[in-house]
Amino acid sequence: MPVKGEVPWPCEEHTGAKHDIYRRYLERWFPILLAGSNAYPSVTYAEGFSGPGIYSGGELGSPVIAIQALTSKVRPEKGIARFVFVDDDQRCVEILERTLLKVFPSRPRPKAAMPVKIVKGTCSPNLEAALDEVGAWGQPIFANLDSWGNAPVPHKFLRRLAANVSSEVIVTLFPQHFVRFVENSGPAADDVFGGDPHWRTVTDLAPEAKSRHILTCYRAALRAAGFPYLLDFELIPRRGQPLYLVFGTRHRLGVSKMKDSLWEVDRTQGVGFRDPRDEQAETLFNIDEPQLGPLTRLLEQRLRDKKREVVEHLRDFALFETVYRPEHVIRALKPLVDRGVLAVEGGGAIRRTAFVSLVSATAR
Ligand SMILES: C[S@@+](CC[C@H](N)C(=O)[O-])C[C@H]1O[C@@H](n2cnc3c(N)ncnc32)[C@H](O)[C@@H]1O
Repeated sequence: MPVKGEVPWPCEEHTGAKHDIYRRYLERWFPILLAGSNAYPSVTYAEGFSGPGIYSGGELGSPVIAIQALTSKVRPEKGIARFVFVDDDQRCVEILERTLLKVFPSRPRPKAAMPVKIVKGTCSPNLEAALDEVGAWGQPIFANLDSWGNAPVPHKFLRRLAANVSSEVIVTLFPQHFVRFVENSGPAADDVFGGDPHWRTVTDLAPEAKSRHILTCYRAALRAAGFPYLLDFELIPRRGQPLYLVFGTRHRLGVSKMKDSLWEVDRTQGVGFRDPRDEQAETLFNIDEPQLGPLTRLLEQRLRDKKREVVEHLRDFALFETVYRPEHVIRALKPLVDRGVLAVEGGGAIRRTAFVSLVSATAR
């Protein structure tokens, strides 16, 4: 849907944090895929909802950030990097063209090494068609699907993307959109969730459970599309609505690099993030000194479910199922030891190879 108000629009707090995450991740993604030891001849960065590339305060938008990530980290002679930008608002398309010319007055790479395609039209079907046209398939694609949060992207497209070599997706989601419009949503909304209408049971849930339900259904849809590793997190501005980003990849390295990017985000922007699965919904604002309370709770729940786990598996759990890093796990287990609720088999310190379990209340 074209933008309702003026183009460009002001850059909100969480947009700055989101851009920081994109930039930090792409500054890793381009060099690994174009200049690493297993480099590919070409890659494609694609956006289905590109926006105008600039905000009313002069802040740069995601298309520019992506090109800067490439040119700042990869030498021009290394491989081909294609860029595909789709937006259905004519004003966004025109401003994006002008912005790219202004930010890059001379081409940072020859045209053949950095073709850029800008399309005016809806993400579906134009993004897939543009990827066909530029010959992106068969080489890695990073798809940034940054809609207004309704993610109008056919599941078929996500399945094709997941089946494509080393391809990844990041989707912006506003669960409130689905909560608000559930009654008026037709089959296209079910298709967002892989054709499964289960998301509609959101109407039966308590208000505080609704967002998590939508997110859980969306994770299931991305997994069903073929992305086994998912990372989702909630960006919390001091004012305004939280925003959810869901990242899908088929590679452990992708999750680990995205997690690093998330934890390095500039905290001074006043945006915190939160693990959507934390029952107490504690926001992590101060990342210099990570607040591990939510992870301690998640690990305790995990041990309740699994009874006994080796710490190495809990590290994987943290990496793949929470916003935390594996290196936070041992520190997050310590309060459980102090409370006398965690037993380390064989005694001694908590090591990666140690088995741990919860001590039953009767044994304490
Ligand atoms: C959140 S903005 C994108 C911001 C941009 N990714 C950035 O970070 O700088 C969403 C954009 O999607 C466009 N849009 C909305 N619905 C669309 C659709 N179905 N297909 C393509 N573009 C759409 C809007 O015109 C708007 O420019």
